[in-house]
Amino acid sequence: TAARLTVDPRLPIGPVRRRLFGGFVEHLGRHVYDGIHEPGHPEADEQGFRRDVLELVRELGVTMIRYPGGNFVSGFRWEDSVGPRDRRPRRLDLAWHSTETNEVGLHEFADWLDKAGSELMLAVNLGTRGTLEAIDLLEYANLPGGTALSQQRIDNGRESPFDVRVWCLGNEMDGPWQLGHRSADDYGKIAARTAKGMRQLDPSIELVVCGSSGAQMPTFGDWEREVLTHTYDDVDMISCHAYYQEHDGDIDSFLASAVDMDRFIDAVVATADHVGAVRGSAKKIDISFDEWNIWYMDRVESVKPTAIDDWPVAPRLLEDVYSALDAVVFGSLMISLLAHADRVASASLAQLVNVIAPIMTEPGGASWRQTTFFPFAITSRLARGEVLRPQVEASTIDTARYGTVPAVDAVATHDSETGESALFLVHRGRGDAVELRIDVAGLGDVEIVEAHVLHDDDPYASNTLDDPERVQPRTLETRLTDGILHVTLPPIAWAAVALR
Ligand code: AHR
Repeated sequence: TAARLTVDPRLPIGPVRRRLFGGFVEHLGRHVYDGIHEPGHPEADEQGFRRDVLELVRELGVTMIRYPGGNFVSGFRWEDSVGPRDRRPRRLDLAWHSTETNEVGLHEFADWLDKAGSELMLAVNLGTRGTLEAIDLLEYANLPGGTALSQQRIDNGRESPFDVRVWCLGNEMDGPWQLGHRSADDYGKIAARTAKGMRQLDPSIELVVCGSSGAQMPTFGDWEREVLTHTYDDVDMISCHAYYQEHDGDIDSFLASAVDMDRFIDAVVATADHVGAVRGSAKKIDISFDEWNIWYMDRVESVKPTAIDDWPVAPRLLEDVYSALDAVVFGSLMISLLAHADRVASASLAQLVNVIAPIMTEPGGASWRQTTFFPFAITSRLARGEVLRPQVEASTIDTARYGTVPAVDAVATHDSETGESALFLVHRGRGDAVELRIDVAGLGDVEIVEAHVLHDDDPYASNTLDDPERVQPRTLETRLTDGILHVTLPPIAWAAVALR
C-alpha cells in the first residue's frame, strides 16, 4: 500500500513547548526507593541516587517532572518529607497500601532534579488536606526568606527558593478511588479558594486544576464544565489523564489509541472554551496532559497488598513490561500530543522508573531501557521550533473501539531559525508495509540528517533484565529526491526523520 503526505511550514499549529516532554515521579512501588534512590547500589552517588538511572533520565530528555503523586499525594503531609531525615516519620500510604519512609522528600528530590536537568512540578494535597497546607507548601518552596516557613527551608539546607513554577491543585479528584474524592461542585470550590490563596502569595505561578481521570469517567465533560465554572479566572490549565492498553487481543483498536487521545483533547478544549464563552472571557484555558501512557491495569503484578498488617516498603507494583507494539502506540500518543501544541501546554509521561516506566532497574543490579524509552527520547531530542500537521492521504482501518481511522498518522516540527525539521510517523496497518511519499519541498533545500524506525517482527518482543536490548530502534532507509522523501514503513511501526 501507499500513502502521500505533504508538509507545509506556512501554517504552524503552535510552538513545540518543551514542557510537553515532561515526566512524573510518584512515591509508588519501586519508583523512588530501589528505583532512583538506592544507597547500597554500586552506582549510588553521595546522596544515594543511582548514577546509571540519572544518565538514562537525561538521555530520555524529560523536561519537567510532576511530583510526588498521583494518588499518593491525596494522603501526603509535605511536612513529613522535610527536615532531618532521622526524625522523619514513617507513614501509611493508603493509596498503594505501602509504608512511606520519607527518606526521600522535597529537598532530596529537588537535588535529584538538578542532577537530571529537569524542572519540578508540584502537586498539593486537596484530598485529605486543604487551602492552608497548600499555601504553606508554596511559602516554604517559593518565598526567598523572612518568615518561619521560608526560614525552615533555609535551615533545612536550601538557601534559594525552589521556585516551583507549575502547581497541580490535587490529583484525580473525580475518581472514587481517590482519598478525599469530591463532587465537581465541592472540588471546584476548594480548588478556586486554594488557587486564589496561592496566587495571593505568588501571582506568577501557573496552576493546573483537575480535569477527569479519563474520558471514560461517567462524569466526564460535566466535571470539566462545573470545575472550570468555579475556577476559570484562577487557573491556567486543566488536566487530562489517559492510559491505553490492548484489550482482549483487539490490536487494531489499540493501535488507534491516539485517535481517542485526539478526541479527548478536542472535547476538553471545547468544554473549556464553552465555559469561557458563557463567561464572556477572552482568556483560554490550556491542557496539562499530566498522566499519559500505556498501562495494563489488570496485570497480576499490579495488585497491591490489602491485609491490615501488610504495608511493605517499595513493593513491586505496576511494573509493566512493554512490547514493541506498546512502543508504537506510545509513539503515536506523542504524535497526538504534539499535534495539539496549540492547547496542550504541558504533558507528563506517567511514570519514569520501574512504575509503568520507560526505565527499569533491578536492586543491586542493572538498569535498562524499555521499548517505550525510544520514541520518547527521539521525539524529545528532535522536536524543535513550531509544530506542523502534514496533510495525509492514506488507506483506513476499521476498529471496534474508535471506528474508521487512517492507517498512517504524522506530525512534523520545523525550526525556521536553525533550519531543522523533523517528521514523526506511525503505521497502524498490520498487513503490508506502506510506501510513503512525503512532499517536503516546502521545507526548502533540505537533507536527511538521521532516520529511525521502531518495529519488530514479533510485536510482543520486549526488553527485560535477561535480554535488555532485544528491541531497539533501527536506521530507517530513506531517499530524498526533488523535494519528495520516500520512506517504506513496515507494519506496526513508528518512525522519525530529521531533516536540515
Ligand atoms: O500513574 C498511576 C496512577 O494513575 C496515579 O497515581 C493516579 O493519579 C492515576 O490513577
